Amino acid sequence: MDRIRIVGGNALSGRIPISGAKNAALPLMIASLMTDDTLTLENVPHLADVEQLIRILGNHGVDYSVNGRREKQNGSYSRTIHFTARQIVDTTAPYELVSKMRASFWVIGPLLARMGEAKVSLPGGCAIGTRPVDLFIDGLQALGVSIDIENGYVIAKAPKGLIGARYVFPKVSVGATHVLMMAAALARGQTVLENAAREPEIVNLADCLNAMGARIRGAGTPTITIDGVDRLSGARVAVIPDRIETGTYAMAVAMTGGDVLLEGARPDLLENALDVLRQTGAEITPTNAGIRVKRNGAGISPVDVTTEPFPGFPTDLQAQFMGLMTMSKGKSRITETIFENRFMHVQELARLGAHITLAGQTAIVEGVSKLKGAPVMATDLRASVSLVIAGLAAEGETTVNRVYHLDRGFERLEEKLSGCGATIERITG
Ligand code: UD1
Repeated sequence: MDRIRIVGGNALSGRIPISGAKNAALPLMIASLMTDDTLTLENVPHLADVEQLIRILGNHGVDYSVNGRREKQNGSYSRTIHFTARQIVDTTAPYELVSKMRASFWVIGPLLARMGEAKVSLPGGCAIGTRPVDLFIDGLQALGVSIDIENGYVIAKAPKGLIGARYVFPKVSVGATHVLMMAAALARGQTVLENAAREPEIVNLADCLNAMGARIRGAGTPTITIDGVDRLSGARVAVIPDRIETGTYAMAVAMTGGDVLLEGARPDLLENALDVLRQTGAEITPTNAGIRVKRNGAGISPVDVTTEPFPGFPTDLQAQFMGLMTMSKGKSRITETIFENRFMHVQELARLGAHITLAGQTAIVEGVSKLKGAPVMATDLRASVSLVIAGLAAEGETTVNRVYHLDRGFERLEEKLSGCGATIERITG
């Protein structure tokens, strides 16, 4: 199994091109199930989760072709991919495929909308809490879908089509908002979703569906109104830049010191996280080309954060921020409110010399003046990259084991970081 070897201590300087967002690319790809025309997506990142979803969509009948830019053109590797679901050949998403990635459960929305039925395995994905699917089920039932759960599968049927309705999410969910928005786009009549997720990836999907002929208003606010249409057509849509990748590299620079331009990054996608980073002492400057992050000399100030749905501080940056706080000049409190089991990086950071105690959903981090390299184990996607960041700042050698998690969500991580002066390499096998 691959490992990443890092020799820490170098400040980062140079440019890092930001890839298309994994969490936007996945729902956009799934939307291709909703039309028999071609949906062309630009700026699709090259990631294990994208390849896995291509396999899952292929099982339903989606053909795809890649005719992206040549690699490295414009400093980017992202591709343009054409997806065509001329015919849906199978409405079942089997356990073997869905268990590898939770987001693949989302095919339930388009399959129901287009075919009136879907049989989808209950999901797997990162081990960060129980992550139930009750909101998807409730919401789809509100749209007139009958649902049974049998042998680990959700069996959903709407033989007469979906019917628009008002649905108030009891809890904010990104995935359930994506699914209900897609399902409602082809429902009869109007759907109003209240307490909807407001993440930029929701807006990217709504823009895509509208480009395909849907009538969706209010995405990015808590109330989304969808007037159902009979059919959707093809479109050409760009995946937004990855705000989590952006925040991750910004935190790496804040921790190691240096001066890096995050090319193509959009500050409006992560305002809160950038404010928090400024409070730690990093200099953040939006430019025409992206976001410039700089920290020279001064120490890292401790800042308390609580994860929240967008526009709050993202749970997907919590582990990386904890990495940064391990070297702050004092005590910080990091509270996780989205997932109940998302502190698995704590014991691994401790192996590098971090002082962290857990009190329920809050981690109390006592900054230390230096971390020391050690072998560590990656446990989930974002936790893995927090160990990479800490390793970059630690003295000596850190080996991050089980890096397949990183490949799910970070495009050419070693290459991007070594391009800025980090000593980092992949050891295969
Ligand atoms: C998405 C992101 C993930 C991010 C998360 C929160 C993708 C591919 N993944 O995951 O990176 O960490 O948003 O920003 O976009 N919940 C229920 N019942 C449900 C659905 C969710 O209780 O039916 C709970 C979850 O367990 C969790 C909370 O709601 O505690 C938020 O989860 P949700 O927003 O649905 O996360 P995902 O869409 O899975």
